[in-house]
Amino acid sequence: MSKVLLTGGTGFIGSHTALALIENGFEVVIVDNLINSEADVVSRLEKFKNVSIPFYHGDCRDEDLLNRIFQEHKIEIVIHFAGLKAVGESVSFPLEYYENNINATVTVLKTMLKNRVHKLVFSSSATVYAENNPAERVEGHPLGCTNPYGWTKFMSEQIIRDTCQASSQLNAISLRYFNPVGAHPSGIIGENPKGVPNNLMPYIQQVATGIRDYLRVYGNDYDTVDGTGVRDYIHVCDLAEAHVAASKYLQNHKGCLEINIGTGKGVSVLEMVAAFERVNNIKIPYRIEARRSGDLAINYANASKAYQLLGWKAKRNLEDMCRDAYNWQYNLQKNKT
Ligand code: NAD
Ligand code: UFG
Repeated sequence: MSKVLLTGGTGFIGSHTALALIENGFEVVIVDNLINSEADVVSRLEKFKNVSIPFYHGDCRDEDLLNRIFQEHKIEIVIHFAGLKAVGESVSFPLEYYENNINATVTVLKTMLKNRVHKLVFSSSATVYAENNPAERVEGHPLGCTNPYGWTKFMSEQIIRDTCQASSQLNAISLRYFNPVGAHPSGIIGENPKGVPNNLMPYIQQVATGIRDYLRVYGNDYDTVDGTGVRDYIHVCDLAEAHVAASKYLQNHKGCLEINIGTGKGVSVLEMVAAFERVNNIKIPYRIEARRSGDLAINYANASKAYQLLGWKAKRNLEDMCRDAYNWQYNLQKNKT
């Protein structure tokens, strides 16, 4: 059985990927410093799948720790999720973002090579595309970012390409995620941001469960179907399965690739609100406010490369995303009271 090391594996996307890998016959090992997640995710996954998951509470900038993990486990593939991810925070604290995200990528690569581990999947982002590209992002489009978080993804991709170039044994896929939302339908794992959510879906979830009074819709004067921003929302379980597909691909292929992971369909803020209300039979009060600085009008994936190379495409629809997101948030609130 192949063993996969997940850095940042107790986080939102990492935990769903751990589950999908286990369901596909992989063994998983997790390292996370818990800066944005909780350790009990591991026990919930273990109980749900009746497996044991080795967990290391530590930082993946710690070379000694990573060397120890590679010595204690015969790792075949590393999926590198660990990173800070809040765009606004990265503008206020750029050095924390460069220091964490870039050093983590460098340390992961260094220790992989030292321990002869040659397959890497990296969490990149749609944010690496330059703003003035066509709304449908294609992998070959020009890159460029508008905030330090984005640059850490841009630079990490470059560091990975350069390292592959220098070390022909290394094979890597950077997955450029669009907008991951939803939760596992079991309700045992999901997204639970600390503080006020920055992203649309977690905010809607908190309005739905009474934590927040209303949603602020950032602008209704864009050139879109109803004036509100359009994004490519992807169910986190589909995204998790894309990591399984990338891991399988790396078992038989060589090279260094970048691949979009989205549905290929754009959904506006008000379309998302309407779908959430319909599916969950709940009202989401909202107010139209000014545009949020730095936001694009429309941004969605051309997802054909993922299908051509990995044989992966998204299977879940907007209704699944809304239902599973609410189910998770509802359970979370219920268990707190
Ligand atoms: P998350 O915050 O839930 O998970 C990231 C995990 O990494 C957390 O558990 C955190 O504790 C851990 N971590 C951070 N720095 C670490 C370090 N130095 N050492 C060890 N652990 C560390 O975020 P997520 O949504 O699951 O995102 C996973 C990855 O995907 C991130 O790299 C993120 O930038 C990227 N990504 C996320 C989105 C999104 O919208 N969620 C979109 C594009 C890309
Ligand atoms: N929005 C609101 N109200 C909110 C939050 C968001 O109206 O409270 C709107 C935004 O203006 C935008 C849309 O909802 O039109 C989506 O916004 P998100 O913040 O959910 O997502 P973004 O596309 O802005 O950014 C996300 C991640 C980035 C990542 C990018 C592409 O936050 O880290 O997707 O993957 F880079």
